[in-house]
Amino acid sequence: MVKIISLKKEAQKEIKKAKDLKELDQIFKKYLGKRGKITQILRSLKKLKKETRIKIGKEANLLKKIVEENIREKAEKLKEKARAEILKKEQIDVTVPGKKVILGHLHPLTQIQRKVEEVFQSMGFSVVEGPEIETEWYNFDALNIPKDHPARDFWNTLWLKKATGDRRQETRLLLRTHTSPVQVRFMGKNPPPLRIIVPGRVFRHEATDASHEVNFYQIEGLMVDKNISVANFKAIIQKFFKKFFGKPARGPLRPRSEASEARQGRPIKIRLRPSYFPFTEPSFEVDMTCLTCRGKGCSACQRTGWMEMMGAGMVHPNVFKAVGLNPKDWQGFAFGMGLDRLAMMKYKINDIRLFYSGDLRFLNQF
Ligand code: DAH
Repeated sequence: MVKIISLKKEAQKEIKKAKDLKELDQIFKKYLGKRGKITQILRSLKKLKKETRIKIGKEANLLKKIVEENIREKAEKLKEKARAEILKKEQIDVTVPGKKVILGHLHPLTQIQRKVEEVFQSMGFSVVEGPEIETEWYNFDALNIPKDHPARDFWNTLWLKKATGDRRQETRLLLRTHTSPVQVRFMGKNPPPLRIIVPGRVFRHEATDASHEVNFYQIEGLMVDKNISVANFKAIIQKFFKKFFGKPARGPLRPRSEASEARQGRPIKIRLRPSYFPFTEPSFEVDMTCLTCRGKGCSACQRTGWMEMMGAGMVHPNVFKAVGLNPKDWQGFAFGMGLDRLAMMKYKINDIRLFYSGDLRFLNQF
């Protein structure tokens, strides 16, 4: 009898403490399993005298029922608790702010290239591309650059090794030093009249510093027709700089008079200075009003009020001859400018190497 009462207390205490179904199962086995404590009492009944057997049997069966019932109840409670925990885990708080998707953006040089393309396309120019690996003939010979010109020197041009044993490769290969060879490539296949711009990557064998890189970007321009003069070139380039550097007009597009622009203190002007390029005659450098001081003279423009923007000129007769055109029939202008330089001026960036650094602190500002 004493044993049964203490067993009941012991079992109930353990059931109460059980933390999960696994523990509860152990308790079940301990008391009601095949060799469980209560099971053993019930089994040993037959050894007892009839009177004690009836008495103890009754108590033991009652104990069995109570413990079974207690375990069932506890199991329900534990299941309920587990369910509540799962629900809590799966609950979604619709008021929590969402995770922001981080969108990338175009590299500043690509943005500038697109802007330049947009302005020239609005003036009827097509965008054309050429190969970055070029032949000596397209890069130099066809552009009237003499064999002994220093630009061909190892120090400026990155020459490529000939593929050994390849007889078909008669001309030397190089990484193009400028986008001008595309003038020749395009004219060779497309008869004039034509208007193209050629954005692209170019390569130079030189030391890097704040304004020099081994690779950078240029935009070449070419317009060929029957009656093209320097006046056409000036008009187109002036318009380009105004559209590219001028503030975007608000509201309906209205042409601004020079006087009204001067009043607002932002006229953008250009000037041509005589220069020399083998593939143009005459050749010139094009300067634009300094954007920092608006022509007054400052440290950015060496107090001249002008910034050097591009090389240009009228297409040399020898270039027309190289592509089988008669220079008596056609005239044209060509120009070439550094895209990086354009971007540096537009955004006031003082080191060209930043474009190629991959530094997000720089790139994310655009
Ligand atoms: N190809 C020249 C350069 O790199 C730039 C240039 C000058 C292009 C005059 C032209 C031009 O088309 O007419 O440096």
